[in-house]
Amino acid sequence: MSLVAQYSNDALQAEGLMRDKLPRHVAVIMDGNGRWAQQRGLPRIEGHRRGVKSVRVIVEECARLGLGQLTLYCLSSENWKRPPNELNFLMSLLEQYVIEERSEIMRQGLTFAMIGRRDGLSPGVLREVQKTIDCSRENRGMQLCLAVNYGGRAEIADAVRALAADVAAGRLNPAAITEDDISSRLYTAGMPDPDLLIRTAGEMRVSNFLLWQISYAEIWVTDKCWPEFRRPDLVAALRDYASRDRRFGGLKG
Ligand code: IPE
Ligand code: IPE
Ligand code: MG
Repeated sequence: MSLVAQYSNDALQAEGLMRDKLPRHVAVIMDGNGRWAQQRGLPRIEGHRRGVKSVRVIVEECARLGLGQLTLYCLSSENWKRPPNELNFLMSLLEQYVIEERSEIMRQGLTFAMIGRRDGLSPGVLREVQKTIDCSRENRGMQLCLAVNYGGRAEIADAVRALAADVAAGRLNPAAITEDDISSRLYTAGMPDPDLLIRTAGEMRVSNFLLWQISYAEIWVTDKCWPEFRRPDLVAALRDYASRDRRFGGLKG
């Protein structure tokens, strides 16, 4: 049972949204924290700090809209190229977020998941993430999934390794490998593919995010930086999504 009050159909309609035209899974590349701060003469880490506020707002809005899943790109496997002080700050911000949001996650009835390689993450982050995963397991609301130390190519390499091990052990016939065999070995096993991919801060690239899963995602990019992304921006993305003709290779429906 989800505890957060979801918007009624009338409330959705008043904003030009329709329940059956909402995406099931929204994925977000939360970019532009550093630029947002630098434009204001602030250190980059201030942008990350302010970005957490956007996360809180958008998580609750997506839950109230009744979406099935929200996946947020928090740290890529390539972000380790950044200076140690920024990475340390991001790690402590993540730990703090997971601790502070646990009660909100429970209040809103969300389930919590994390995708990405665990190695390299601080023991504190891993401990707090696991606690939140465990305590939210029985919830029935939206799934909140954080992509941390995540890389799409690394994920595919890990899946290939798992497939190869199954082949070597005689559990899998290489000639019979299907797309589902690959999907079920990705970090996102059991999750639906994103329907809508939002990127903030204007860049027209996917930056190694969910490469396999976004094959038919609708892409929506805004110039706004993540710390200034709010409900009206989300609604604009959802309205645009509703107007798209998703053909999946077929003909206009
Ligand atoms: C996104 O903001 C957050 C992370 C990648 C951790 P950036 O830190 O990439 O901000 P810009 O792109 O430099 O402005
Ligand atoms: C993508 O943003 C990663 C996250 C938002 C966590 P980046 O800032 O790392 O992407 P590039 O380097 O501009 O492609
Ligand atoms: Mg960036």
